[in-house]
Amino acid sequence: MNEYSPAHIKETAMPLGARQPGEEDKDSTEIADEACARAPIGLLAELTHRCPLQCPYCSNPVELERVNTELTTEEWQSVMRQAAELGILQIHLSGGEPTARRDLVDIVKTAADAGLYTNLITAAVLLKREQLEQLKEAGLDHVQISIQDSDARPENADRIGGYKGGSAKKKIVAGWVRELGMPLTINAPIHRHNVDNVEGIINYAVELGADRVEIAHVQYYAWALKNRAALMPTREQFNVAAKIVEKAREDLKGIIVIDSVVPDYYAKYPKPCMGGWGRGIINVTPSGRVLPCHAAESITGLEFDNVKDKPLAEVWLEGEAFQKYRGTDWMKEPCRSCSRREIDYGGCRCQAFALTGDAANTDPACSLSPVHAQWAKVAEVESHETPPEFIYRRPGGAGPKPSAQKKPVPSDA
Ligand code: SF4
Ligand code: FES
Repeated sequence: MNEYSPAHIKETAMPLGARQPGEEDKDSTEIADEACARAPIGLLAELTHRCPLQCPYCSNPVELERVNTELTTEEWQSVMRQAAELGILQIHLSGGEPTARRDLVDIVKTAADAGLYTNLITAAVLLKREQLEQLKEAGLDHVQISIQDSDARPENADRIGGYKGGSAKKKIVAGWVRELGMPLTINAPIHRHNVDNVEGIINYAVELGADRVEIAHVQYYAWALKNRAALMPTREQFNVAAKIVEKAREDLKGIIVIDSVVPDYYAKYPKPCMGGWGRGIINVTPSGRVLPCHAAESITGLEFDNVKDKPLAEVWLEGEAFQKYRGTDWMKEPCRSCSRREIDYGGCRCQAFALTGDAANTDPACSLSPVHAQWAKVAEVESHETPPEFIYRRPGGAGPKPSAQKKPVPSDA
């Protein structure tokens, strides 16, 4: 699985507020019209959690969904049509590995026929050229390939992804994408096992003919939180990498666009995660659960609707999980009275929950959070210690069972 970066979600069609008084008795057409007026920009379709790679920073939940719970072809096609009716513009076909679904071409065709812009987020190792041609024919607009390192260091890349030969196959597939004239983005999750090669990774993306490269420092929730001590770069390493990105942006202007995502623990202010909760994106899991964020299930106590039970528009507008942290009314101090509250929306709810036990707290990535210094210290300490072995992403995980592992707290450091 790729690291799906919340930084991708930068804007929405319309700002969203809470449901207004007197709106309780609307019929389904009114709901659909209103949802469309307030529509999110994108839908992340996690078609499956199956994946041949085992990246230790995967943004999928630690409890992966099983193949026998996945939505059928017809159900995914209905999701695509409903997304278009809702006013969504982009579909990000993700996973796990979306090409593990045999019906991917049918799903893409339905999405494209409905007028949606389709982006395939893939690890690429399963793709065959013929399949890519069929996807293009079906209307696929864009391909995003995740890499673990540059092709100069294939052993390192394959070790990180837990898949031998993956690095070489990705290069071949990237070549096919360009030969077929499709736009290509390279997504490179960055951590202490490749942070020393950011320049090499950017140059490799240029060599592959990518239009865009994402230097995406790993975000520490889900599998990455389990592997934080193994993945966290030092602040010095991050600073060096940031300077390299800055210089490359200048040097490569007009050749490639370079996006970057800062590691939260070293940030001054948090990112507006998901563009604001319930504001920019809908995530649908393999079994059809509708989430405001791909990691939202890590927040215990939230109830999620399923596309099998309710129309997408209704879930988007009225779903309990979407309403819970939408807008700014739910905020506590210091966010509540902060001038940045409608810029970053208090940061990441999942990270706030993972690190403080309350998703309504200020994201500890924020320097104004009362616990920011403690977590920055954890990052400093862990990043200077010998990294532990990876806990690879696989059902149940390697090593201790996920449920048996301690949740890290500042006192652990
Ligand atoms: Fe953002 Fe809250 Fe920090 Fe203000 S206090 S910068 S709103 S996270
Ligand atoms: Fe940031 Fe869920 S990962 S809100």
